[in-house]
Amino acid sequence: MKVGSWNEWDPLKHVVVGRADGTMVQAPEPAVVRDWPEHGFPRGTHGPLPEEMTSAANEQLDAFARVLEARGIRVDRPRTLDFGQPTATPEWAQQSMFGAMPVRDVLVVIGNELLEATMSFRSRWFEYLAHRPLIEAWFRADPDMRWEAAPKPRLTDASYRPDFWEEFGALPFEEQIARVRAGELLLTEAEPLFDAADIARCGKDLFVQQSLATNAAGIRWLRQHLPEHRVHGVTFGNTHPMHIDATWVPLRPGLVLHCAERPAEEELLHHLKVNDWQVVPAATPGRTDPPPLSACSRWLSMNVLVLDPGTVCVEASETAQMEQLDRLGFEVVPVPFWDVAPFGGGLHCATLDVHREGVLEDYFP
Ligand code: NVA
Repeated sequence: MKVGSWNEWDPLKHVVVGRADGTMVQAPEPAVVRDWPEHGFPRGTHGPLPEEMTSAANEQLDAFARVLEARGIRVDRPRTLDFGQPTATPEWAQQSMFGAMPVRDVLVVIGNELLEATMSFRSRWFEYLAHRPLIEAWFRADPDMRWEAAPKPRLTDASYRPDFWEEFGALPFEEQIARVRAGELLLTEAEPLFDAADIARCGKDLFVQQSLATNAAGIRWLRQHLPEHRVHGVTFGNTHPMHIDATWVPLRPGLVLHCAERPAEEELLHHLKVNDWQVVPAATPGRTDPPPLSACSRWLSMNVLVLDPGTVCVEASETAQMEQLDRLGFEVVPVPFWDVAPFGGGLHCATLDVHREGVLEDYFP
């Protein structure tokens, strides 16, 4: 048993696959506005995702776990909690939690360190508890594992721009993108905030997206916490940035898959180019619509899980994405996963690399 992973592609030995049980459409909170009347959740309402959707998602998650195990990869699963229960800190109360499917959002492994993210939704403040029994067991089993948690945020009203959703939604596209580039989104800079899924790991270089879940103070905290790394704060031309792994997906040394609808900054592209990295625009998704009851986009098509530098798992209906990766020299493992999407994402979101065999390297010398 070893906790250790430096990047998104080294040979995967041990992984966590999330669970769909009990996932909620969250109760309203400053960070989240849900309004899905066509699926029975008009604005202001909350509740569990329907039973039949949950069973279908769990079937696909279980099947994915079996695919990984058949390749000799150890798979752990989180426990489920009663995500419908209200939670509170001394400073706020929230009517529901969220779930335990997108493990990637909450935890990240960097070298031998397991780091718990702050999270930025009140409904997700306690989500680490779904994973704690696993983390405790790893800590007992691996004497070299470092266990860290970023400062628990207060998430008072001061952490959110008042009336953000109404005001931002009324802006023209160019102005929205200007706000994204300037980091003037939902979150204030009152305290460090980040979701782990805004981090893309490339050895010594970590690319961290400033987003609706990650603020500049969160990126600064990561930079100070990881002095041996180059932590790059990055933005993309996406009006609703939330988690980097359907926008900028490193696949192996020298190759990044990029959502061309969401342009990268010139500085980031230059950094890759001078180091001979190729930035490939991802294939157009086969889906025309985003998944139901979800804040994710159809670009989950590129939310792939790399098993080793020559093998990649891709959602089984995304034919064009599979063909593109095949042409790029990968063995493609098709994994049916669209029923999981409403529960918080794709194959990368649903997993956490606990151990990838490999060492720290500098890919951008
Ligand atoms: N929220 C982003 C990332 C999901 C993994 C998207 O839907 O494109």
